[in-house]
Amino acid sequence: MSTQAQSPFPPGFAITTTRLRIVPFDPDNEEHTKFLARLWNTEQFIKSCGATGIKDAASAAKFIRNRVLSDYEYQKHGIFLVLLYDEETKTITPIGTASLMKGRPPGAHYLAPDIGYAILPEMNGKGYATEASKGLIDYARTELGIEGVFGFCDSKNMHSRRVLEKIGLDFRGIAELTVFGNALSAVYTLPGMNQDLGVYGLTETLQQ
Ligand SMILES: CC(C)(COP(=O)(O)OP(=O)(O)OC[C@H]1O[C@@H](n2cnc3c(N)ncnc32)[C@H](O)[C@@H]1OP(=O)(O)O)[C@@H](O)C(=O)NCCC(=O)NCCS
Repeated sequence: MSTQAQSPFPPGFAITTTRLRIVPFDPDNEEHTKFLARLWNTEQFIKSCGATGIKDAASAAKFIRNRVLSDYEYQKHGIFLVLLYDEETKTITPIGTASLMKGRPPGAHYLAPDIGYAILPEMNGKGYATEASKGLIDYARTELGIEGVFGFCDSKNMHSRRVLEKIGLDFRGIAELTVFGNALSAVYTLPGMNQDLGVYGLTETLQQ
């Protein structure tokens, strides 16, 4: 019999940045589940990240319950919902996701998490992915003691690469990463991380 993972975050938990609130996903919150299904089915997301099995609110709820809560419980981080806070009207609107993901043994994994993000296409170019990622990394460093963070993305995804640069990550090269089934990926790291990425379990050859 499997028991459902429990979120370690207290009710009302949010990482706060100037314009955003970054909150854990709740499988019982229809606003969360509907939004995830909407975001992950935009043409832009599918083109950049590929199609997922999440087609509607029900499949999003199942994914959050089975996978996202388990990540929260196991590693205290995972994928979070990004909300835009309107100071004037005091309203919040979902606009994207920000994530710190780390594979788990026995599957392919590195020893540092990687930062990820997706923002609704109509909200692009306003700095939201950058602000959310910075907020999540700051939280991970100060509250979870995480010192190493990777940034991985398709080497041709220039908007995503620009986000990684604006967050302040260093470009280390391009490699076929085993965690992504040997797909070619640009590799970025937080400044101050060991020059030898083998320390973090990343032993693939990097090309400039
Ligand atoms: C990549 C993505 C997260 C960028 O989100 P964003 O909130 O627009 O990012 P930011 O505004 O913080 O910064 C993105 C950079 O690209 C530029 N940019 C992004 N979208 C743009 C657009 N539609 N038009 C013009 N410039 C754009 C921004 O200007 C910015 O660079 P700049 O500050 O030097 O001008 C978003 O396009 C997305 O969700 N794409 C699909 C999912 C994806 O690719 N995720 C990353 C997988 S590794």
